[in-house]
Amino acid sequence: MKHWKIKESDGLILLAIDVAERSANILSKEVIGELNDIVSEIHSRETKPRGLVIYSGKSSGFIPGADILEFRDVRSAKEAEGFARYGQSTFNKISSLPFPTVAAIGGYCMGGGLELALACDYRIACDDEKTRLGLPEVLLGINPGFAGTIRLPKLIGALSALDMMLTGKALRAKAARKIGLVDEVVPKKNLLSMSLEYIKRHPKRKSLALVKRLPSLPLLRNITARVLRSKIRKKVNQKHYPAPYRIIDLWVRRADQPTEAESLGELMAGETSRNLVYLFLLREKLKREGRRALHRIKRVHVIGAGVMGADIAMWAAYKGFFVTFEDKSSEALTRAMKRAQVFFRKKLKDRYKIQEAMDRLMPDICGNGIKKSDLVIEAIVEKVEAKKLLFSEIERKALPNALFATNTSSIPLEVIAETLSDPSRLVGLHFFNPVAKMELLEIVRGKETSKEVLLRAKSFAVAISKLPLEVKSGPGFFVNRTLMPYIIEAAKMAEEGFPLGDIDASAVDFGMPMGPIMLSDAVGLDVCFLVAEEISDFLGFSIPKILRKMIEEGNLGRKSGKGFYEYQKNGKRRHLPEGKSDILLQKRLISKIVDEARICLKDGVVADRDAANVGAVFGTGFAPFRGGIFGRK
Ligand code: NAI
Repeated sequence: MKHWKIKESDGLILLAIDVAERSANILSKEVIGELNDIVSEIHSRETKPRGLVIYSGKSSGFIPGADILEFRDVRSAKEAEGFARYGQSTFNKISSLPFPTVAAIGGYCMGGGLELALACDYRIACDDEKTRLGLPEVLLGINPGFAGTIRLPKLIGALSALDMMLTGKALRAKAARKIGLVDEVVPKKNLLSMSLEYIKRHPKRKSLALVKRLPSLPLLRNITARVLRSKIRKKVNQKHYPAPYRIIDLWVRRADQPTEAESLGELMAGETSRNLVYLFLLREKLKREGRRALHRIKRVHVIGAGVMGADIAMWAAYKGFFVTFEDKSSEALTRAMKRAQVFFRKKLKDRYKIQEAMDRLMPDICGNGIKKSDLVIEAIVEKVEAKKLLFSEIERKALPNALFATNTSSIPLEVIAETLSDPSRLVGLHFFNPVAKMELLEIVRGKETSKEVLLRAKSFAVAISKLPLEVKSGPGFFVNRTLMPYIIEAAKMAEEGFPLGDIDASAVDFGMPMGPIMLSDAVGLDVCFLVAEEISDFLGFSIPKILRKMIEEGNLGRKSGKGFYEYQKNGKRRHLPEGKSDILLQKRLISKIVDEARICLKDGVVADRDAANVGAVFGTGFAPFRGGIFGRK
């Protein structure tokens, strides 16, 4: 066996998965094939073992899922269905073993990994930070296919199971214990001993509590499904994302394993899943490329504790870097520290970890941190002279090997670098607002930025869990440059008198996560105006008067209670007029993004179609089910 190792003693079988030549235990066809052989052999034995424990032979974790590269290579629905049937039958052999079976889970246990664990009688999970359990198939446009849609609702009740399958979220061990997904949560060192204890005790599983069974009762099943479908409808269109609707259907129809496999086959061969898989692999590729170089950064100094700087500093500290941050205003620093504390509390929960994160973040009004930092990030006001002056000062104080980064959203790097004696040290790190939510990070390459600086910047981006997209310095870089003409076009349509609801509905119908009118209100009309002003000359568009007028009247969007739409105090829209999608409006809007992206490609702002797709999907939310602006190929 290449991927599994068996140890046996005293009638107990310890089966370790340790997938050869891979850092993680990915369930490829070959790996499942070996498991099938092993379990078949165990079934055929005359003397039955006392129990089986499946655990990971790798320190990197249990099983993070199936091999997504194999998804890409699937040629037909039938082929994918066949693979699902094979996985189901292998796992069925585990579930029908006539003695207790345990999955000992430490680290990621996702997708096919969790379905394997579900085929065991018991699941013991490790209490560490890395352990997560989930069925994220929906995020790749498919339903679970190794009997997960059947076993999970039976184990934890329909509502919890559907919640996991429809969101794809990954639960920590304790949360999994709470809903009955795992039987025991223990420290890593006790994982095996507790598994053996379960084999010895072989406790009877209690039947599900009535409240958990209720939604599955015949009368309530259809009502539950209707409620869930209407919730999903508010988030995604069935035409664009069929998988969540399928998951509900499979449950409501009490689908059997062949139906689950058939559904998986159809979805996997469909365009949505193929595009989502393409984007997933692209994202992994960017991260891999980012990891190629070492960033050699321990200390980060952030200058400017406004909207962006405060969040950049907080995020870097959250991700383990030592951060000093500076602002000429002490109030801004105090505000930023408070904001960081709230953020750490929400994210880290444990008070020692919160304290550790706070200790990594040091307000530094005098800017002494520059002298010790390996990376200095500038996020002060968008004024050329202020930035130039600041960088000449930074260069005087900084370590010889330190990287210099600017978060500018519009000033060419070459201009900022004019005061530097070594301009090759300057790179753009263009974060998006809100920093904690937006995964994309544009890595801006100036004419003189050195290769080494670029590589280190990308590696830093990956280290703080951001997706590095290299772009050429130029007005609006890639994301703002493609997004702004679209937003401006929407404002023009509003000025021309088209109903706001229709403008938004046309974009949403195409597959944008929200309409451009709603998006402008969410970003803030003043912010949109500033960005538009920065690039309007270069791109040759004029800013509609309506935008200026609304700003002058103090209607800045959601934050002021009124923009294009009116908002309640909680930020929700006051009126929700149903808009109608109109193909002409849709074409007008979408062509603005696509046309500009084409020019960017020609101008070398992004390297290729793949990069443009990643930038569009992760920066502007451009219809992921379409595979981005240009689609895959
Ligand atoms: P902001 O106005 O909220 O904050 C700027 C901060 O810099 C203020 O706290 C100010 O006191 C401080 N500051 C100004 N000059 C300084 C100096 N010489 N030394 C130390 N501190 C100084 O600005 P915001 O929105 O955070 O923008 C900062 C940068 O990030 C700008 O270059 C902007 O273009 C860029 N950006 C902004 C985005 C946004 O959505 N607001 C998105 C992406 C980039």
